[in-house]
Amino acid sequence: MYQFHNEVREISFDNYKTPTPWMNYLSNGTFHTMMSQAGGGVAFYKSPQIWRINHYRFFHLPTDRSGFYTYIKDGEDIWCPTNEPCRNKPEQWKSTHGMGYTRFEAEKKGVAVTANYFVGKLENALIWNLKLTSKEDKTVTIFPYVELGMMEFMRELQWQCYNKHQLSAYALGDDILVYKYGVETQPKPDETPLVYFACNAPVASYDCDRDEFVGSYRSEENPVRVEEGACSGSTLYGGDPCFALQLNVELKAGEEKEINIFLGTAMTEEEILKCVAHCRENDFVEKSFAIVKEEWDTFLSKFQCEIPDKDAETMINIWNPYQAEKNFKFSRNISYYATGTFRGVGVRDTAQDILSMVPFDLRRAKDKLNLLFTQQYQDGHCNHYCFPTEGWEPVTRIHSDNHLWLVMTCYHIVMEEGKLDYLDEVVEFYDGGQATVWEHIKKSIDFCLANLGEHGFPLMLSSDWNDMLYKVCRKGKGESIWTSMQFGTVLPMIAELAKLKGEDGQKYLDIYETQKKLVNEVAWDGDWFRRCITDEGRFIGSKEEPQAKIWLNAQSWSVISKMGDPEKQERAMDCVKEYLDTDLGIKKIHPSMKDYPSKEDPLTYYNKGCGENGSVFCHANTWAIIAECMLKHPERAYKYYHQLLPMVAQAKAGEWRYKAEPYVYASNIFGPESDKFGLANVSWLTGTAAWMYIAVTQYMFGIRAHYDGLEIDPCLAPEMLPAKVTREFRGCRYEITITKNEKVFIPYEEGRTELKVEI
Ligand code: NOJ
Repeated sequence: MYQFHNEVREISFDNYKTPTPWMNYLSNGTFHTMMSQAGGGVAFYKSPQIWRINHYRFFHLPTDRSGFYTYIKDGEDIWCPTNEPCRNKPEQWKSTHGMGYTRFEAEKKGVAVTANYFVGKLENALIWNLKLTSKEDKTVTIFPYVELGMMEFMRELQWQCYNKHQLSAYALGDDILVYKYGVETQPKPDETPLVYFACNAPVASYDCDRDEFVGSYRSEENPVRVEEGACSGSTLYGGDPCFALQLNVELKAGEEKEINIFLGTAMTEEEILKCVAHCRENDFVEKSFAIVKEEWDTFLSKFQCEIPDKDAETMINIWNPYQAEKNFKFSRNISYYATGTFRGVGVRDTAQDILSMVPFDLRRAKDKLNLLFTQQYQDGHCNHYCFPTEGWEPVTRIHSDNHLWLVMTCYHIVMEEGKLDYLDEVVEFYDGGQATVWEHIKKSIDFCLANLGEHGFPLMLSSDWNDMLYKVCRKGKGESIWTSMQFGTVLPMIAELAKLKGEDGQKYLDIYETQKKLVNEVAWDGDWFRRCITDEGRFIGSKEEPQAKIWLNAQSWSVISKMGDPEKQERAMDCVKEYLDTDLGIKKIHPSMKDYPSKEDPLTYYNKGCGENGSVFCHANTWAIIAECMLKHPERAYKYYHQLLPMVAQAKAGEWRYKAEPYVYASNIFGPESDKFGLANVSWLTGTAAWMYIAVTQYMFGIRAHYDGLEIDPCLAPEMLPAKVTREFRGCRYEITITKNEKVFIPYEEGRTELKVEI
């Protein structure tokens, strides 16, 4: 079904019928496209919530419609290089996802087409680069097509019947199609772009009216205009829009014909004319594609490894950092699973995503973190998520963890840079006033300290990292033991920063000691750590309870925070192995809940083994890997890491059970208490991407940035040894060879550009 080609950083598919659409993201930071292995997908300008360009029908059958299609009409034969959506299939076919591009290679009746899709830096446009050849002289008609809709997806669902008559699609001159969206009360009307569709070949005709092009009771499978061989020249002032072009192409035997299609955005018609003229320049497409390639080469070259485990190597060198960058860019916004509606930028999620950007691009990391600081209030708490692109009001729920992630991410930025300058950047508070980054993170600590519960642990507030826990604290008294551990993880970090700044760090270490005592004395259950305390004072995550007796995060973070007494950490992680590990990943809780804590008001409605209720929660697995590394258990860390490599989990579960992509992590996998054990969900956009990358690079390889230099403290199983790693750090390329698990520290030296290290 698929094959990795690591030399060129690609994965190819020889069958278009994957168990679910297997996606890629093509993006220049402003114009984005999510595209499947069969050409389905959705494009958007900046935000899929308010500037969505085409229809993608989430959850509907047939799956993976609509997309970016090119119909080839060769006599009576009609087919698509994307394979979908025509019933009539190419004789030979292959598709490929690469770094920022997706390519289709197809052939039928002597006509071969290569269609390479990407979004370049030079214009905000999805480029479809088509190369056609024929074995004999032939004239074919080709129809590039995309189904448009209303740009605001939620408004479309609700008000389409009226608002669709406020949009238009028409021709600018003879051969550029334009789509204009504008309805009353839409957000940011002045920033709403026009969309254009153009190409660099003569246009015989076009359609802007979807129903004219497709025909009644038909679909993208068999548009009537394609069957008839000609577009109708329709425009659309109100109705259901599309862009379709008709190009009559003469192919000479053995000669290649290149045609480029551009689906782009610009603010005015004048600007569209300029953009299209630019796109049509001779070397434009080639130059644009070369930049995409070069940017990814540069990005990925910052950390590369060579290890015996080739599946791990594929993920570490290519797909994991690629996926992490997409999370950094899109947060949890839009994927095959997430509809791109009202998700915005989550403070908790994004702060974690930034962690993986830190070694790659400090400025991007800082700018994103500064955006999150703008969601912080003077008292230190943060909005839960915000909508900077859409300009909507943020979600203001107060969770116990959001503000603490800011401290962690800030700490890692300072460690990577080896300078305190970032702490002096000034960022506004959400409720007015401004402060330096340093003051902001101190406020995070203050807020946590001012919101401790009866037992002394941080109040849960509207839940902690675990969304499901919102019910234990509705009366405002529930406490989070996990947040105490998260607090305990960041307190030494801020203490270190305070020391570097010449301020009092001890006070943070004192708070740490108090929390640590609580963790060991109040949270310890005998064999593991309990998870939280309800409003009524009931301990969740205890042997005494009938369900959800043990929770993964409370064990892994007892190690990460170094709060658990050493023997308790060991025992707790042994219990993780005993009760939670499944060989297809570690379950989040055991046993799953059904009617707990009461039938009338259960903690969750998730079925057993699904999602938050006893699935293998991949994001949380990463913390178990880190914990095992910190405990110096290389074999166990490796087991937990290796079993979740997407291609490994997919092979073990079976392609048709696992279903999701074998090249990116999923958020969760149905657990053994479900009859669909092994089914992966919510791939691509998940905190798993950032943390899996951190787990393997910073804890298994053990390469960690410190203020004074680079620490290498590997915890590698024999399957990962010997390891050769290249890591760029403060302008120096470290070529590190690891043959054993021994810790070294390399003090930073200014001006050094290369260093070989052997362990
Ligand atoms: C997914 C959410 O995006 C994230 O914020 C949360 O921490 C996890 N689910 C766990 O509940």
